[in-house]
Amino acid sequence: MEYEDIHTPVLGKEVVNYLNLKPGDTVFEGTLGGAGHTVEIIKAIAPTGKVIGVELDSQAISTATINLKESGLLDSVLIVKDNFSNVTGILKKLSLEKINGFLLDLGLSSMQIEMSERGFSYLKNEALDMRFDLSETIKASDIINEYSEEELKNIFFKFGEERWSGNIARNIVKQRAIAPIEQTGELVDIIKRSIPAKFRFSRKGDPSKRIFQALRIEINGELDNLKKALEDGAEALESGARMVIISYHSLEDRIVKKSFEKLSGKCTCPRGFPECRCGATVKVKIITKKAITASQDEVLRNPRSKSAKMRVLEKV
Ligand SMILES: C[S@@+](CC[C@H](N)C(=O)[O-])C[C@H]1O[C@@H](n2cnc3c(N)ncnc32)[C@H](O)[C@@H]1O
Repeated sequence: MEYEDIHTPVLGKEVVNYLNLKPGDTVFEGTLGGAGHTVEIIKAIAPTGKVIGVELDSQAISTATINLKESGLLDSVLIVKDNFSNVTGILKKLSLEKINGFLLDLGLSSMQIEMSERGFSYLKNEALDMRFDLSETIKASDIINEYSEEELKNIFFKFGEERWSGNIARNIVKQRAIAPIEQTGELVDIIKRSIPAKFRFSRKGDPSKRIFQALRIEINGELDNLKKALEDGAEALESGARMVIISYHSLEDRIVKKSFEKLSGKCTCPRGFPECRCGATVKVKIITKKAITASQDEVLRNPRSKSAKMRVLEKV
């Protein structure tokens, strides 16, 4: 399998339909990945439109460049190695004030899980790294070997919603006193040992999945990046332009839902406040009252789409 062979965009048709684009538009795709969505978007904005394709992972940028070159679409994309949370700075650098569409397809690509060898999958034994951006210094192994027991427990609980966080953190600290923990396989063994057998495979799935998710969120600052991108991305939209966000777990979806509500003018003051002090103003209209999910057919073709939730807003 080649690196560039394995990216099928999740909810590809729905993304393009909901972005509601026209030829000549400029679209910010903050999660370029293998350029799956970008290719679909270009079809809607060609021949003069442009995609600003933002990505933190230089390996993904190489793949996207190859894919776009092979499809003859590279001239329609401005590839930028940056964090999507820096949407304001990126647009300023390109001397662009407004955009006609904004997309985030959050999380990891299949390429990163299957082929990056950076420890994103709990089903493989690889070095504990999990950085999207290899120029960042903190890896998963640094967190596992250096954070205090309390800090580890809090991360697992907050970002993985793992009930056995305390046991797992305690066993990590015990194990690393013998030798540093460097491989994903070692961490998976500790997680398994920390959970009583009858709770190991609950309805919530494999606990390693939740602990790996928590570490990735912490290392890459994923939730803070998302909050900032939603606010600044909405600000950058032209009136009538749309923002489409695809998330893959409940922590992300909750942030998207709450941010959309706030942008649509919902007051977020604590209940019982005599008057609104949060400064709620109507900046957008929410297009999807309920999140859009993948059809059964898509889930069969692309299992990664199973947990996808897509929400859409429109700038007023
Ligand atoms: C699910 S993949 C995107 C796949 C892409 N939409 C496609 O169709 O090929 C998510 C990508 O976003 C990148 N990413 C995650 N957080 C990012 C951030 N804060 N800024 C820029 N890129 C980010 C990841 O490296 C990954 O390649």
